[in-house]
Amino acid sequence: MKKYTIDNYIIDIDKYGLKKTWHTILSKTLNNTFNSDIFNISNYGELYEIGLEHVNKISKKEMGKYYTPRDVSNVMSNWLAPLKGDNVCDVGCGAGNLILSYLDNLNKSDAIRLISNGNIYLYDLDDIALEICKYSIAIKYGKEYLRKIHAKHCDFLDKDIKLPKNAKVISNPPYYKIIEDGKNWKITNVISDSRELYSAFIEKIITQSDSSVIITPYSFIGSGKFYSLRKVMNKYNGFVVSFDNVPGNIFNGRKHGIFNSNKGNSVRAAITVVENRDNVKGFRFSPLIRFKTEERNKMLDNNVLYSLINDRYQIVDSRHKAYYKCHSDLLSILDAWEQKSDKKMSNLIEQNDGNEIYLPTTCRYFTVGSKRNLLRDGKRVIKVKNKNTYNYVYCMMNSTFAYWYWRLYDGGINCPLTIINTIPVFLDLFNEKQLNKMNSLAEEMQSKEKEYLVYKVNAGKKQENIKFPKKYRNEINKLFFDVLEIDKNISVLNKIHSSSLFEESESEENE
Ligand SMILES: C[S@@+](CC[C@H](N)C(=O)[O-])C[C@H]1O[C@@H](n2cnc3c(N)ncnc32)[C@H](O)[C@@H]1O
Repeated sequence: MKKYTIDNYIIDIDKYGLKKTWHTILSKTLNNTFNSDIFNISNYGELYEIGLEHVNKISKKEMGKYYTPRDVSNVMSNWLAPLKGDNVCDVGCGAGNLILSYLDNLNKSDAIRLISNGNIYLYDLDDIALEICKYSIAIKYGKEYLRKIHAKHCDFLDKDIKLPKNAKVISNPPYYKIIEDGKNWKITNVISDSRELYSAFIEKIITQSDSSVIITPYSFIGSGKFYSLRKVMNKYNGFVVSFDNVPGNIFNGRKHGIFNSNKGNSVRAAITVVENRDNVKGFRFSPLIRFKTEERNKMLDNNVLYSLINDRYQIVDSRHKAYYKCHSDLLSILDAWEQKSDKKMSNLIEQNDGNEIYLPTTCRYFTVGSKRNLLRDGKRVIKVKNKNTYNYVYCMMNSTFAYWYWRLYDGGINCPLTIINTIPVFLDLFNEKQLNKMNSLAEEMQSKEKEYLVYKVNAGKKQENIKFPKKYRNEINKLFFDVLEIDKNISVLNKIHSSSLFEESESEENE
């Protein structure tokens, strides 16, 4: 039997179309009448994408964008395994990265029992991907089981599509904006408020299953438009780990990619594990995990990730609308800060007159406030009256506190004013001596801004910023600990700025 190559594949696609070509490959493989070195289950996903690209359904740029890498699906499968539910469902299964990993992590006999008992459910809008997924399972575990797998070619959000009873779900749903509602959808508040497909999937999965593990963008954790989803989540329980996308990134660096190296910047991701234990409500959170690419293997371990989650179950309400992503050992500092603050930053900011403080909008490793009008594109200007308030806001923006607050509640690309406005402030707690210290620190920094200017070229343009020596940030942090009566060494805050998960090393980057 001659070996089937990529060239044969492309010729077949041109001749018979993608659907028929795959049907032939899959049926022949199932019946052991297919010979190829590259067409094996672990490459199907990528080969399918190559086919899609050939027929112009996706561009090279999109290839493999948000398909779950093997090391991530492994973590997700391990979390799903002990949870409640007899029917295992992969929603938006694609070519099957998640369900195959789940089955792979079971004993072979357990996997076969699950399949042969008719406990596997697959859902996808793409009929070819769905067929690849279903056949992959049968090729691996036995062709006699092909008919036992429930593969539903559907829009998962269609009202008529329901998860089976006792469902446990693994899913990496699509991440598109909803332009137009589906004709047969149930339009929930989550859909009308967020206009994001992934949150509609989370809602439907959570409300119809016993347990689930879902990977999505992390924006639902804090962003205002997902408040209705968080309110739905109040009724369930579990935990969420979230990941920054710089320097290391969850979705690229696909190890098993033989044809495809996907290097673009991608979304910040979160894995939500809905456990639904008895007698608890709400979700526990990890901090926003930042890791170096070389730390990926060590980090993508269920125990390592689980150890980062703090033990507080968060419930949202009209006063606390967002979840926060806090390190376990910093919770008490956050509590002291929030409880002792009597105002928000917005109370100190003036609309019209006042002296200006400039805030660069990007803040990868620290935030900056400057008296100098920085020569750069992305910046915000806030106005503050009177010396003490001015210096306090200045110190706040150059401390770990402002940066930390942004990482707790957002942590995306830019630091929005909505976050700055809600930073808790405690100027009224300062005594005379502490005020003097704050003023002299702030004034010294202001007089030295010019010495610490740094530049980064962005889109061909030089962008100015200030990188103060760390001693200033430490001095401010120490003063703030003193005012808040936090009896801890300020070095506990170092990890907030670290570009590494396992070491406290701050990146050499300028912002
Ligand atoms: C991000 S991919 C994930 C694929 C695979 N589960 C993985 O983790 O690698 C999302 C999948 O959802 C499917 N999809 C998109 N819209 C859908 C819908 N409305 N209903 C069901 N599936 C959908 C896509 O075809 C795609 O296979």
